[in-house]
Amino acid sequence: MCGIIGVALKSGNAAREVYSGLERLEYRGYDSAGLSVRDNDGRIITVKRGGRVANLQAGLYGITGCVAIGHTRWATHGEPNDVNAHPHTAGIFSVVHNGIIENFRELKDELQSSGEKFVSETDSEVIVRLINREYKGDVLTAVAAAVKKLKGSYALGILCADFKGIIAVKYKSPVVVGFGTDGVTLCSDIPALPDYVNSVCLPEDGDIVIITDKSASFYDKDLQPVNRVRRPVFAGQLNAGRGDYPHFMLKEIYETEQTVRDTCESFFRNVDVKRLTEYVRGADRVIITGCGTAYNAGLVAARFFTDRCGVFCQVEIASELRYSPVHITSATLVIAVSQSGETADTVEAVSALKERGARVIAVTNCGFSAITRVAGLVVPVCAGAEVCVAATKSYIGQLVALYLIAGLTGDVFKARGELLSLCNGISSLLNDCSKAGLIAEKCAASSAVFFLGRGIDYAVAVEASLKLKEVSYIFSDGYPAGELKHGTLALVDENTLSVILICDKTLADKCENAVSQIISRKGKVAVITCLADVAEKLSGSAEVWKIPACSAELSPFVSAVALQLIAYKTAVLLGRDPDKPRNLAKSVTVE
Ligand code: F6R
Repeated sequence: MCGIIGVALKSGNAAREVYSGLERLEYRGYDSAGLSVRDNDGRIITVKRGGRVANLQAGLYGITGCVAIGHTRWATHGEPNDVNAHPHTAGIFSVVHNGIIENFRELKDELQSSGEKFVSETDSEVIVRLINREYKGDVLTAVAAAVKKLKGSYALGILCADFKGIIAVKYKSPVVVGFGTDGVTLCSDIPALPDYVNSVCLPEDGDIVIITDKSASFYDKDLQPVNRVRRPVFAGQLNAGRGDYPHFMLKEIYETEQTVRDTCESFFRNVDVKRLTEYVRGADRVIITGCGTAYNAGLVAARFFTDRCGVFCQVEIASELRYSPVHITSATLVIAVSQSGETADTVEAVSALKERGARVIAVTNCGFSAITRVAGLVVPVCAGAEVCVAATKSYIGQLVALYLIAGLTGDVFKARGELLSLCNGISSLLNDCSKAGLIAEKCAASSAVFFLGRGIDYAVAVEASLKLKEVSYIFSDGYPAGELKHGTLALVDENTLSVILICDKTLADKCENAVSQIISRKGKVAVITCLADVAEKLSGSAEVWKIPACSAELSPFVSAVALQLIAYKTAVLLGRDPDKPRNLAKSVTVE
């Protein structure tokens, strides 16, 4: 959701460095991109283009300078074109912005009435015009005065022709400051930092930071100096590229087994298990919340808590939860699930519940993210950098973390053993996945794809549908199989495919009924099952993928991987870019 980067280098080509950073950050938005460089004569040179980062290449020739800022955009205000691309410039300033300025209309009216001419349709342009208007010779004072007028969320990188460094500002949008041998960097996300960075500082909301090639100085909104702790960065946190894989999505699906192992290991090494156990055992109720795939992980985990542990668990979409009058007591345990830890809907929802007295746990893949500052306890998902916009390995990592948390009501070591024993199943599925291609061909040839299941399979079906629609753009829906006859069956015809998940043998007969109902209406059917007898029975009437055997409760850890592969292969067959689905971006930091 817009990525910003800035570098102040001791020597070298800042434009090239920012360009590489934008390539690494592109998963945060790919509607347009741009950069500004302060050259060695103190001039600011800006190159910006609609479309992908690669469109900047041609404009970079001959630009030199050691200080630069860059931006990759996910459009909120104004269509994605050259003019609306960042950086925005006014006078001697250039600014990149991630976030939303909620009062930009009032500010724009005020600036226009004092003669300011705007060139873009963006909310962000008011920022640079305000800073330029406030400038009386001191950059820091001008920035502080301008940001006091802003309402909304903003991570800013600011260049000034009169100043040899960069000014960064953080308020409710993520930004980190990285230090390394070659200089100092600011960046929206740790994984996109350059590989020379070996430590980071995390600005707090309201911080204004002066960045030079040697240091970073932190100030609060009133320009009082503040200290921010420097923490090491480990190689595994950085985006290591996609290696020999054609896409990050495929690479990341193949990293699932490692995610399961690492998340299990970290649970016992990094989590305050004693306190977490008290939270879980003392809970009158568990509320799991998140958005998109993270919410869908909650749907699966509700089964772990309710069916296995007898704890009442409800799952809420974070953007709805924030405004819902949900009942909270001091014993209510809220579990916020978020890969990025920066999703504004989730962060705001759990902050509100915390204020009302709930205990909050964060399950996240990003250790220093906003959600970790709200939560009383953090359970890390150890999926490593996830670059593909569609969540894959992080979803399975979230399920692992949630399974272990639920396991604290009983024998958590047994729960860990069960998870680790699944790793063989996941790797044998990935070693023999030719069925994914066959089912993907059917998906690609269909006007709509329905994913159906009962019990825990239904929860997986909802995620399977999200994954397919976001990377292939085929209409899709996830349904409880029993609901089919109450409405959706009207949509079934020879152009639709229904993918039925059958991993719970107690509900297998009922799901087989759904298969018959669809076939009688000439609908195409594919079945994914871990049950050998079901596979045998249905293989004459449907495309059946028999996945490795496992219990119903643990089947999502395997069946979801199969469904991710089908979504991936469908996208590739249709010529989509699975890593960068249209209109989407990773890390949705606006509400
Ligand atoms: C789907 C997907 C999104 C995210 C959602 C929440 O593949 O990636 O639906 O799951 O935007 O993001 P996080 O988990 O970062 O809070």
